Amino acid sequence: MKKSLLSLAGLFFCAFAFAQNTADLNVQGGDLKINKHIYGHFAEHLGRNIYGGFYVGEDNTTIPHTNGVRNDVVEALKTLKVPNLRWPGGCFADTYQWKDGIGPKEDRPTIVNTWWGGVTEDNSFGTHDFLNMCELIGTEPYLAGNIGSGTVQDLMDWVQYVNFEGESPMSKLRRENGREKPWNVKFWGVGNEAWGCGGNMTPDYYANEYRKYATFMAGWTNEGGLYRIASGANSADYNWTETLMKNIPANMVSGIALHHYSVIDWGAKGPARGFTEEQYFTTMQQALFMDELVTKHSAIMDKYDPEKRVALVVDEWGGWYESEPGTNPGFLYQQNTMRDAMIAGTTLNIFHKHCERVRMANLAQTINVLQAVILTDGEKMLLTPTYHVMEMYNVHQDATLLPLEIKSNEYTVGGNTLPAVSGSASKKDGVTHISLVNIDTKKSQEVTINLAGGKLKNVTGRILTSKNVTDYNSFEKPELITPANFKGAKLKGNTLTVKLPPVSVVVLELK
Ligand code: AHR
Repeated sequence: MKKSLLSLAGLFFCAFAFAQNTADLNVQGGDLKINKHIYGHFAEHLGRNIYGGFYVGEDNTTIPHTNGVRNDVVEALKTLKVPNLRWPGGCFADTYQWKDGIGPKEDRPTIVNTWWGGVTEDNSFGTHDFLNMCELIGTEPYLAGNIGSGTVQDLMDWVQYVNFEGESPMSKLRRENGREKPWNVKFWGVGNEAWGCGGNMTPDYYANEYRKYATFMAGWTNEGGLYRIASGANSADYNWTETLMKNIPANMVSGIALHHYSVIDWGAKGPARGFTEEQYFTTMQQALFMDELVTKHSAIMDKYDPEKRVALVVDEWGGWYESEPGTNPGFLYQQNTMRDAMIAGTTLNIFHKHCERVRMANLAQTINVLQAVILTDGEKMLLTPTYHVMEMYNVHQDATLLPLEIKSNEYTVGGNTLPAVSGSASKKDGVTHISLVNIDTKKSQEVTINLAGGKLKNVTGRILTSKNVTDYNSFEKPELITPANFKGAKLKGNTLTVKLPPVSVVVLELK
């Protein structure tokens, strides 16, 4: 009698301890698409992102390259399926004179990169170099126009130079510089962080500036028109979004940007490696705050644009920590740990959930800067945990969203809590994908998903995990963290159970 009571209690305990992460999922499919452009990346002239990252120069004899662009990087980014790449900044964009970066390299002026380390910028990587590189990678360029220190004429000329097919002064110059056909660049940022490094403008002033620049750019349209993106809010600056939506007609703007970094405190960012559990918790709080930000900015946009013609473009997001000791603080070089994998997985889940409004985003940044997907050290290159999450998740690109709301257990640190598990799902070509993240550093989480709307017979999956949330891939151990086959998912009838180890990202495929 005693024994059976005990086993009953045990059963109850197990159910209570493991079965609290639950969700319903209708695999029939909804009507919203996850735009592949939320998987965009960002290549600013900052630190070793361009120079030493993407580009090692045409004369390099030790690193295999194509016209100076590293072949290993091109291959890695092709596998990642990068849909768009933002360039040349960031803050650098509003100082960038694009005409400095065209023509014979020996004639290009050498300038100072005043935003990032005060280093010499020889302009050897310019418009042709970037746009040809995008063709090599198979990604769409996203050019950030200079409205902080550049004129309307400069921006008009740039659009004309890269997009105009007919006879005009700028298309003639492009041809003289060796490019016959235009590149047809669709994505254009009209300034960057106009509230800060882009000119410290007020939202009213910027809205007027936007209208002016956007007007004259449009004359040099490419096929299908330009996709003009207004410089958007800094995190929770809702007034910025409100002012822009009120003052810029929807037919003049395709997207309004939003920048949000997962930073603990701008005055005390904490180390990229060897951080404490409390620091990790605060970073994740900041990462999950993206849900509230997107919800609130979208609600403002809904007031002025209920048809959702204008997209919310989160063109800078990611973790920002102190630069690695011994490196130039102006280069923003930081290692990338399992914490960053957690930021990437949870943020992409949020973007999926809001895919009706969030239709483009850019992780900051691609190589050797902030939450990078690739790190280089001379000839060596490694893929970070963030790279692996972005690669595992790319199955969701352009797939149909299957709404998934998980009732999650809590991850508790010092009496504060966050949901331990987050997830998202989509369907493409008859295949369902479910992505799950467990941010808890100590506890495994069992997730039970009740499937409806169709009979699925088979589940397979991949997992990214490591013993400690502080683990990272180093040049000594570049493959410490790589995706592996996942055997922790079981499908019984319509019930899917998944056992997620601590700090793990799992992507399941169901057929
Ligand atoms: O990504 C680094 C910098 O962060 C960008 O240049 C700027 O736009 C933002 O403040």
